[in-house]
Amino acid sequence: KPFSWYPGHMKKAKDIIVNNLKLVDVVIELLDARIPYSSANPMLQEIIAGKPRLVALNKSDLADTKVTKEWVAYFRQQGIPAVAVDAPQGRGIKQLVSMTEALAKPMTDKLVSKGAKPRAARVMILGIPNVGKSSLINRLAGSNKAKTADKPGVTRAKQWIRLGGNLELLDTPGILWPKFEDMTAGLKLAFTGAINDEAIDRELITGVFLQTMAEMYPDRLRERYKLAGDLPSEPHELLELIGRKRGCLVKGGIVDTEKAQRIVLTDFRSGKLGTVSLDMPPQDDGMAEDEQ
Ligand code: G4P
Repeated sequence: KPFSWYPGHMKKAKDIIVNNLKLVDVVIELLDARIPYSSANPMLQEIIAGKPRLVALNKSDLADTKVTKEWVAYFRQQGIPAVAVDAPQGRGIKQLVSMTEALAKPMTDKLVSKGAKPRAARVMILGIPNVGKSSLINRLAGSNKAKTADKPGVTRAKQWIRLGGNLELLDTPGILWPKFEDMTAGLKLAFTGAINDEAIDRELITGVFLQTMAEMYPDRLRERYKLAGDLPSEPHELLELIGRKRGCLVKGGIVDTEKAQRIVLTDFRSGKLGTVSLDMPPQDDGMAEDEQ
């Protein structure tokens, strides 16, 4: 599923979103709760051009609860409603719907006060690939899933999915490109599987991942791979040690490092290393201007 973005793709993605934005009152920006900074599109603010925005931190089941709470507080401090969700299991979804309604209400009320007929508020979901947009739409839609005949050659009309009382969701999400320029963000996206790791060097990714884990969550590594005491400071030594513990050996007792790399990344992505957050909210130093 991960995809290489070229300038043409980005322009097209942006044009589609800008068109769909005309139809909605508010947007839900979907981020990965483990990496809210790295999973944000660098141009989101510019693209949505003042449309009210709400942040949903998805995959919160895989993130560090304490850090996710700090992120929610951070966004709220910036005046951006935020909520932690877990789309497949439905956690936070009710709150997401009521917060979206509340955010959209001033707009729809204003229309009515100008003499328009009352109508439901409209919302669309935006996010980079793999953050869980389809999962969230499916969860929100529930039994109200858009019914469409998939006839070949027929362009499907936009569908609105009714969410509770006074809200309608556009059934196709806006797909945004990830941060490319920021190397650290790129690596974190690769750890989580949002960026194809064939496109980047898996040895590099695993090395940086292990180094990060050894700094931030050494006990998670100790627990999972039954390591005692100090962890080797060299990532390749740490990988070897893990490979040995997991029996990734080839002839002559040499560690199959590729296999060990796959194990480590798969363990992380499936939550076997526990809940992990790799981006921390900016500290409040009176300079609220963090690029989102
Ligand atoms: P997208 O539309 O934004 O590209 O993302 P999509 O919904 O396809 O979700 C990408 C992957 O993330 C899927 O896994 C999905 O199950 C998983 N996912 C989405 N939301 C959550 C969440 O809140 N928590 C967890 N743990 N996982 C989530 P996949 O491996 O691609 O497919 P599968 O596991 O569903 O078969």
